[in-house]
Amino acid sequence: MRAILVGDVVGGVGMRALLAALPGLRETHRPDVVIVNAENAAAGAGTSPRQARDLLDAGVDVLTGGNHTLQKPEIYPMLETEPRMLRPANIAVRAPGRGLTTVETAAGPVSVVNVMGSVFLTAAQSPFAVIDDLVAEARRAATFVFVDVHAEATSEKIALGHHLAGRVTAVVGTHTHVQTADARLLEGGTAYLTDLGMTGPHDSVIGVRKEIVLRRFLGSTPGRFEPADGGVLVQGAVVDAGDDGRATAISTFSLEG
Ligand SMILES: [Fe+2]
Ligand SMILES: [Fe+2]
Repeated sequence: MRAILVGDVVGGVGMRALLAALPGLRETHRPDVVIVNAENAAAGAGTSPRQARDLLDAGVDVLTGGNHTLQKPEIYPMLETEPRMLRPANIAVRAPGRGLTTVETAAGPVSVVNVMGSVFLTAAQSPFAVIDDLVAEARRAATFVFVDVHAEATSEKIALGHHLAGRVTAVVGTHTHVQTADARLLEGGTAYLTDLGMTGPHDSVIGVRKEIVLRRFLGSTPGRFEPADGGVLVQGAVVDAGDDGRATAISTFSLEG
């Protein structure tokens, strides 16, 4: 089986780039499942119901989230009712929605787990406190299990990768918006990548207009963050796995949008 995983979609430019790239990605890779992190689709902060629907209508199988997912309350009803849309399982004590789902694909059922890091991010619990139960539940439902670990610290993601090695098909990181060059297979056939990168404007500071961020770092007028629009890339990874759910290959892509 083959999966395509796409890194954080940022703003309208990221949405347009991904929707335009999807047919080509499908043609090239023939994936059985497409998993997209959509936490920044709504101008960097959350996902609107319309955007979530557009992505699902375009054939995305599962949307994952992150620390921004609960920022737009209008998404709460969809988080409750749409099983293909996740938010981190450990984001808050009482959050709408779910952090684990299973979808049917041509290659059989695929489970997706979404957790967030607790180093430099405010999570209700450490991902290590919740991940074993989530993965056990995911494995009861599917042979193929993908984990989106939405976290800032490379160490936390790598540690989670080793913790899950041999128990899931892949552990991929999101949130930093910078694609890492450490795609590898861990012991027991678990594909690992610290960060998928960003689907959005790279002529920016992780998606935000660079002038605004620079003003903030230089200590002058604080400006409201606005998404940038230049240097658009679609970034993510392709994971292959055998019938036993163990990964056999992982490679990254970074396509001009
Ligand atoms: Fe993000
Ligand atoms: Fe994030």
